[in-house]
Amino acid sequence: MNAIINDIEVIKTKSSKISEVDFSNLKFGNTFSDHMLVCDYKNGKWQAPKVVPYQPISLDPSAKIFHYGQSVFEGMKAYKDANENVWLFRPLDNFKRLNISSKRLAIPELPENYFMDGLKTLLQVDSNWIPKDEGSSLYIRPFVFASGNGFHASPADEYKFIIATAPSGAYFSGKVRVLIEQKYSRSANGGVGFAKAGGNYAGQFYPTQLAVEKGYQQVIWTDDNTHEYIEEAGAMNIFVRINDTLITGPTSDRILDGITRKSIIQLAESEGIPVEVRKLSVHEVVAAAKDGSLKEMFGAGTAAVISPIAGFGYKDEDYDLPELEDTYAAHLKKRITDIQTNKTDDPFGWRY
Ligand code: COI
Repeated sequence: MNAIINDIEVIKTKSSKISEVDFSNLKFGNTFSDHMLVCDYKNGKWQAPKVVPYQPISLDPSAKIFHYGQSVFEGMKAYKDANENVWLFRPLDNFKRLNISSKRLAIPELPENYFMDGLKTLLQVDSNWIPKDEGSSLYIRPFVFASGNGFHASPADEYKFIIATAPSGAYFSGKVRVLIEQKYSRSANGGVGFAKAGGNYAGQFYPTQLAVEKGYQQVIWTDDNTHEYIEEAGAMNIFVRINDTLITGPTSDRILDGITRKSIIQLAESEGIPVEVRKLSVHEVVAAAKDGSLKEMFGAGTAAVISPIAGFGYKDEDYDLPELEDTYAAHLKKRITDIQTNKTDDPFGWRY
């Protein structure tokens, strides 16, 4: 669905912050570029998007986002190649998923051109903010939330769609240790686990804090019913390599349909790596760790790209992954980032 927009209005900042940024030492998502895209939903329709200086927003204390958590978001990246061309990776998939998430949260869906033309205009205005160094990119955060007022527990009548961007380095520094969760759940059948809803992440913070206290960085969520099957890591999907086979759980009501996840599956298959998309039990992973057939585990996501896992904890036991020379994780990470940054051809048509 497209809607008519004439040119997108651009109001430029009078004082760029770019000279204050050390582009050779970027952290993840804590430096914000000069502009943002803002688009309001009111009177039953999305109003024209605008690019404005990055700035705080003012909301009424009764805005429904604060009380009922009606919000969804996306994570994307823009890359700049050696010739200063700017590339996105499968952006229409992010647009579609944003609307899938919105629908589940009773948020009005966005027209495609508001998202795509708004994003392109924003990136043109802030193109100097797109890093070129290897491992860096402009992290893009589109989000929609209920700005309409009232304590009545029902969908708001007003929303804001914003795209903010942050020049960023790696999400994780080095390998991560993960805890396979046995008590808390991230999602349930019929719930919102498949959506990129803000609350899905808030609900993970407390169990993740408990895991961090025990020396892990992330929780591996298991199914809410039996806690016997590996699902995802919240900030990323999970892949496990047993012998030569790469295994990941099927998407469902409970698992996010990750764009990196599905790209990894396609890339691996195209290279002849045996891939199985199926339920994977904790029992199978522990047995493989014990008999030496567990070769690798890694997370995959836009922010995390491909993040190797050093080891996992399960029921008070710790298991270490072997240190291999040639890993699927390193190989697939290079393949996908080379495609994203235009260092190689793109047989899948993912680059935009
Ligand atoms: C992303 O990978 O872009 C995400 O949205 C995950 C987020 C928790 C950083």
